[in-house]
Amino acid sequence: MSRLLAALLILFVCCLSVAAAAGNDGEAVYKARCAVCHGKDGVPKSFAKGAPAFNDEAWKKGASTAEIEKMVAEGGKRMPSFRNKLTEEEIKAVAAYLKTL
Ligand code: HEC
Repeated sequence: MSRLLAALLILFVCCLSVAAAAGNDGEAVYKARCAVCHGKDGVPKSFAKGAPAFNDEAWKKGASTAEIEKMVAEGGKRMPSFRNKLTEEEIKAVAAYLKTL
């Protein structure tokens, strides 16, 4: 019986940590999915032409969170769509994170 309990406990802890890793951490999502084109600090790499610098105050003021979420879900001319790669929560979290760069 105690073995079963221990196994359950291990399973529980594993699930928790997986959920935490995939959770609403906008920074983690950004670094894993966006930084490759948009740069860690929000300044786009030269091949990501047309992308604004996310750390530019003027851009932050002009872009609404709703617009950012739409762009991330649908993608753009060169930017891929993330609708099938990220959950709605992750898209919200990463959109909010852009405003903190
Ligand atoms: C393959 C490179 C690439 C990746 C990966 C990428 N982007 Fe982009 N992104 C671009 C390019 C290029 C543009 C400029 C518009 C276009 O050509 O699609 C852009 C535009 C944007 C815009 C529109 C900004 C504006 O106001 O015009 C937002 C917001 C954005 N990206 C957010 C993200 C987020 C968040 C992620 C990660 C989930 C991401 N991007 C991943 C290349 C990329």
